[in-house]
Formats: sequence, C-alpha cells, structure tokens
Amino acid sequence: MAPTRLVAVLQLLLLAGCALSADPGTSAANGRIAYAQLAEGPGGVNIYSSMPDGSDVRQLTNNAAPPNAHPAWSPDGRRLAFSRESGGEWNVWTMDADGAGQRPLTAGPLIDIVPSFSPDGRYVVFDSTNATTNLTTLVRVDAADGANRTPLIPADQAPAGASSMGPKVSPDGALLAFASDAGNAPGVWDLWLMEGWLQVPGGPGVALRRLTTGANNSFSRSWSPDGSQLAFSSVQGGVSWVCIVRVDGTGQRCLTNSTGGPDGPFSPGGIFPTFDGDVTPGWSPDSARIAFCSNRGGAFEVYTMDAADGGSVQQVTATSTGQHISLGWQPLPAGNSAAATTATTVSVAQQLLAALLASLALGLLGA
Ligand SMILES: *[C@@H]1O[C@H](CO)[C@@H](O)[C@H](O)[C@H]1NC(C)=O
Ligand SMILES: *[C@@H]1O[C@H](CO)[C@@H](O)[C@H](O)[C@H]1NC(C)=O
Ligand SMILES: *[C@@H]1O[C@H](CO)[C@@H](O)[C@H](O)[C@H]1NC(C)=O
Ligand SMILES: *[C@@H]1O[C@H](CO)[C@@H](O)[C@H](O)[C@H]1NC(C)=O
Repeated sequence: MAPTRLVAVLQLLLLAGCALSADPGTSAANGRIAYAQLAEGPGGVNIYSSMPDGSDVRQLTNNAAPPNAHPAWSPDGRRLAFSRESGGEWNVWTMDADGAGQRPLTAGPLIDIVPSFSPDGRYVVFDSTNATTNLTTLVRVDAADGANRTPLIPADQAPAGASSMGPKVSPDGALLAFASDAGNAPGVWDLWLMEGWLQVPGGPGVALRRLTTGANNSFSRSWSPDGSQLAFSSVQGGVSWVCIVRVDGTGQRCLTNSTGGPDGPFSPGGIFPTFDGDVTPGWSPDSARIAFCSNRGGAFEVYTMDAADGGSVQQVTATSTGQHISLGWQPLPAGNSAAATTATTVSVAQQLLAALLASLALGLLGA
C-alpha cells in the first residue's frame, strides 16, 4: 500500500472512531453479532462474530471436535460467556470479545450450558443438568471466577420432576426469565419469571410466575432492552416461530411464520432442544431489530428483522454447511467509549481492508 493511501486510511479510521465515541446517548449501540457455527469441512462447532450485515467475520474459538455454543455478551460488550464441551463434559466458559483469555467458570460432570450475564456484570447464570436424574436447574456463579455456585430455584418451589433452563436476567436486574416444563409433559417448555432471584437461597421475596401457557415449547428467550417485553421461540404447528410477549403476559404475538427447512432440526452434541424454523432470538441493544437463527432457506443461518413487526428481514450468515444454532448481540454502552472505539476502529479497518482486497481481486479477475 502506498504511504499516502495508508495515511488516508488511518485518518478515516480515526475519524470513524471519534465520531462514534463522541456520539451522545443513553442506550447501548449495536455492536457485533456472535454466533455458534458448524465449521465448513472438518472441524467442530465454533463461535464466530460478524458485523450485523454479515461483514467482517472473525472466528473466536478454534476447537476441532468439541462443540462451543450459546455466546452471550457481558453488559459492557467486552467479554462473552459460552458453553463448551471438553473431555465429554459441558461447562460454562468466558472469553474476551476477540476470543483471547478463554477460561472455564465451571468444572465437573454436571452439564452447565446456556450462560448469560446479569446486567451489572457481576454474575453469570446458566442451566445445569444432572445426567443421572436428567433434571435441569438454574444456577448462578460469580462472573469473575465462577465462585459462589448457587442454585436459583428454591427447593420448596420447584415442582417435583420438573426442569428449568436458559435463565436471562432482566435489564433492571429484578427478574429472571427462563423456560420450565413444570405442569407440562417433560421437555415441553413454557416461559416463566422469577422475582427475587438475588435473594436465593432462602430469601423471602422469591416467587415464580408462569408467563406463557400452551405447551408451545418456549425454549429460548431474550429481553427487550427496556425490559418491557421478551422475544422467545414458540412452536406453532410443529415449527418454531419467534414471538414476543409483554412482561405482564399480555400482548403475545408472533413476528415470524417460518415453515421450516428441508435440513430439519440440528443438535450438536445431542443435548440441545431442536426444532424446525426460527429459533434463539436475540434483541439488538438499540431495540430496533431482533436476530435469530432459521432454517427457512435450507440450513440454519443467522437473520435479523425489525422488532416492531418482523419486517425487513436480512440474512447475516451464508455458509455452505450453514448450521447456526445460538447467538448474542453485542452492546456498546454509551459510557464505554473504549469498547465502542475499539470495536468500531477494528471493524472499519477490516471493512476497508476487505474493500481494498475486493477491488484488487476484481482488478485481477478483470485483467
Ligand atoms: C446427580 O444425581 C444423583 C442422584 O440424585 C446424585 O447421586 C449425583 O451425585 C448427582 N451428580 C452430581 C454431579 O451432582
Ligand atoms: C431428559 O429430559 C428431557 C426433558 O427435560 C427429555 O426431553 C429427554 O428425552 C430426557 N432424556 C432422557 C435420556 O431421559
Ligand atoms: C401455541 O400458541 C398458539 C397461539 O399463538 C395457540 O393457538 C396454540 O394452541 C398453541 N399450541 C399448543 C400446542 O398449545
Ligand atoms: C406469513 O407471513 C407472510 C409474510 O408476512 C404473510 O403473507 C402470510 O400471510 C403469513 N402466514 C401466516 C400463516 O401467518
């Protein structure tokens, strides 16, 4: 690259970084989308991230065989929690946004998966299955080091034989949304809320409340950034759609109506619930969009749509093997200019580089 062009590129980068970090505002801006993707060719299921338009793909984990799944961003957008199988055991791990600093938060034979951070960044909550009893419970640990492992469903409130999974703390920290098969056939999930989850074990204010009824297999969920609604996957006539419901249980409606895809459900490791159609919604930090995985076009790819009405669907990933099974949308908080600047600068750099390479490639092809 000629020195003058390099200087121009650097100036562009600085301008882009300054423009974003100087941008005032209270809610988080949209960062990257992280997702679990089956490797093309030999390899495992690994976590990648890209810009919401699908550009600037980066691979964050690199395990040849054991799957990695369920990426969930920390509230400052700097770290990710995720599930990893290693030596036949599933545990919760964390890593930096660029994939550095990978370390386990849990250990042992309990199947610890589907982590997410509390909005203050202090805790990671997840679900944990005892393979002997085949029962799944909700657990929290300290996000820094995995200490203070605490079961979240009070023993006197857990319906016998029922499982709970996929906990997500509300943006104000007060509520825990999760799926439970309590009152349903085993493995048929509805959406529930827990109040007082920070008081467990034994706190007086712990209360469980059922949010959906209808055995529609509401097995994954994501809070709207203002905490007023939840997006969740809901099986309608055998195919999963993305639906939303207000936190008081009213206003339930579906934003998608997929008919599924020819490849059918996909379950790495065989331990995740799988359905045809639209699954694992993740609300954008700026509220406007919802990302989800869908096999509407064949295999599971990542898409985004308008949160208001499911319109303006855009495809994010497009790989030949294309199995994408879980995702999270990175928040870039206004107060965290370092996170925003870093992410923006790098992504703009990569986009400019990609554009440069593309124009070089076009030039070569045209020659
Ligand atoms: C799983 O449950 C069984 C039966 O209650 C118990 O004996 C065992 O210790 C549990 N496993 C773990 C890893 O806690
Ligand atoms: C374990 O329980 C789930 C429901 O929670 C059910 O779908 C699954 O079939 C069970 N697996 C075994 C091996 O019993
Ligand atoms: C799923 O939800 C719809 C409403 O969206 C309801 O009409 C239907 O009965 C539910 N399906 C089952 C199996 O309960
Ligand atoms: C599904 O969505 C499409 C596009 O929004 C619409 O035309 C169609 O009527 C919907 N079908 C059902 C069954 O809701």
